[in-house]
Amino acid sequence: MSEPSFGNPEIVEIETDILLVGGGMAACGAAYEAKRWAGDKVKITLVDKAAMDRSGAVAMGLSAINTYLGQNTPEDYCRYVSADLMGITRDDLVYDVGRHVDDSVHLFEEWGLPIWKEMEGGRVDGASWQKAGGLSLKDGGKPVRSGKWQIMINGEGYKPIVAEAAKKALGMENIYERVFIVKYLLDANNPNQIAGAVGFSVREHKLYVFKAKAILNVAGGAVNVFRPRTTGEGMGRVWYPVWNAGSTYAMAAEVGAELTMMENRFVPTRFKDGYGPVGAWFLLFKSKATNAFGEDYVVKNADMLTAFAPYDKAVVVPSCLRNHAMLKEMKDGRGPILMDTPTAMKKLAETLTPKEVKHLEAEAWEDFLDMCIGQAGVWAGLNIRPEQQVSELMPTEPYLLGSHSGCCGIWVSGPADIAPPEWQWGYNRMTTVKGLFTAGDGVGASGHKFSSGSHAEGRIAGKNMVKFCLDNADFKPSLKGDIKAITEEIYRPVRNYFEHKDKTTAEDINPFYITPRMFQMRLQKIMDEYVAGVATYYQTNAEMLKRATHYLTMLKEDSVNMRAKDLHELMRAWENYHRLWTGEAHMRHIQFREETRYPGFYYRADYPNLDDANWKVFVNSRFDPETKTWALKKVPHKDLVPKVYGAAKH
Ligand code: ADX
Repeated sequence: MSEPSFGNPEIVEIETDILLVGGGMAACGAAYEAKRWAGDKVKITLVDKAAMDRSGAVAMGLSAINTYLGQNTPEDYCRYVSADLMGITRDDLVYDVGRHVDDSVHLFEEWGLPIWKEMEGGRVDGASWQKAGGLSLKDGGKPVRSGKWQIMINGEGYKPIVAEAAKKALGMENIYERVFIVKYLLDANNPNQIAGAVGFSVREHKLYVFKAKAILNVAGGAVNVFRPRTTGEGMGRVWYPVWNAGSTYAMAAEVGAELTMMENRFVPTRFKDGYGPVGAWFLLFKSKATNAFGEDYVVKNADMLTAFAPYDKAVVVPSCLRNHAMLKEMKDGRGPILMDTPTAMKKLAETLTPKEVKHLEAEAWEDFLDMCIGQAGVWAGLNIRPEQQVSELMPTEPYLLGSHSGCCGIWVSGPADIAPPEWQWGYNRMTTVKGLFTAGDGVGASGHKFSSGSHAEGRIAGKNMVKFCLDNADFKPSLKGDIKAITEEIYRPVRNYFEHKDKTTAEDINPFYITPRMFQMRLQKIMDEYVAGVATYYQTNAEMLKRATHYLTMLKEDSVNMRAKDLHELMRAWENYHRLWTGEAHMRHIQFREETRYPGFYYRADYPNLDDANWKVFVNSRFDPETKTWALKKVPHKDLVPKVYGAAKH
């Protein structure tokens, strides 16, 4: 970026009715569905910081779709989600995803996604079932189930296939790629109503100002808020996509949207160092994970887990408790934790022909190649043959998300026909800020949507946004805030750089600015050491959190000193600002919830037990944009679908 132009970008103003912020599965679902209802009356615009073909959590591809109901009922789905998330979920939202999700999967298949089929004579992968005379799911074809909810796909091209339909629906002239949204703006005349969004191009020196009646806030979950386990040459390798910067939570919080369950996090167990997925290994290959001495740690520690049993008896052991059992083995010195791939493959081979065994071995690799190529690299680099050697497993650093096996996010209005009155205020998936909607990772208290559920939820939101625009046809958004001052603020890191860059002999070390990378490391260190990261085996207490509050306050003060030497770094600066807000919200919620609800994900060492009497409630928070203060509260929980509480089967 040349010096004379800094802080003085071309300003591009765009007026629309609906603005979709994000380009992942939820945004693609919303684009497709909103267009069906909008006709020519409602203008829809999409803005993505990357390119839709490979943006969002599904960018690299997937080897399974983790939510396909098939023969299961939406009530079953509610029980499963609630159980895995320790009893505190919104049945209305989960049910709503459950009743619509299969339709999204059928669309994916129609658009060209290869889905494995169970056929006479055995399993046929997605590339071959048509030739073998199979049926599509919609016409009664049977998917290959890896688990009760999961089906196998050949999914390297999953995201481009879904993006293509969304792009076709909207038309490329209504899509702005490589534009990073920094913040939302409220309406100048109506309190608590959304009116627009501001951001910048990461390729050109342009500031974008969008005015919209309704905004869909679907910018993904949050990664790299905590210090990752990877270091040095492995740095950058994490499980959820590195580009998920918590923008969804931060931008919603900044305009005063109520958040829910931000204390929840996801700590996935993954193949060590490459962060390879375990789902196919556990579910499809029926592999066992053990401590270093071959003991199944979940079975071994079953009694210990019954102390944390607010979940449905009929469902499997919740993810956090599986971690809890694993961490016990690690802490007691019985690590490393191992995935016994050779035994699993040997067992499967007993019933297979040599040709099928070869296919199975190929599948073992393809599971990674479809969705986590780096793990295949680790296996190749370490001479690991899964049919011969075991692999190490490891619990990762924490991630914040609402679509996978976590449920932090934003408090939204539920479906009119199911949600109790206190859980609905007009439009399905609208946040507590009028006109601001969310889906996917953005919706709190409703995890286990995964890729398909996020798409379905985007469709639900998209349809409701059209209704909102038609109902509010006379509303003319006018932006609160001075665009000139906002432009100044957004480009401040650029000015910091140009003003001070010559006051040092080493560009990255300067008393007048901090690089976004260094800023991120400071955030990660605070979160890791004080807010229950890997450094403390996921433990924290009130005293540690008090310090975290102080350090995060200091860090927020320093955020105005971030530098950006180019547009790429400018994006990094604002991503890390969003991470900081997300980390702060997470910390405040952990501070508020005085119990250990998710052992294995995090522990309040000062409140080590589960306390259903006082804490079987949602925790909601709101940052007041006027007073700039946070307020947290308990919100009563209720089961809309009956659950049978007690210890799960093992
Ligand atoms: S992925 O999203 O990165 O693909 P993964 O491959 O682990 O994650 O798959 C996750 C799916 O498998 C989820 O539906 C999760 O609930 C399920 N899963 C993973 N491990 C187990 C297990 N041990 N028991 C039951 N379900 C599991």
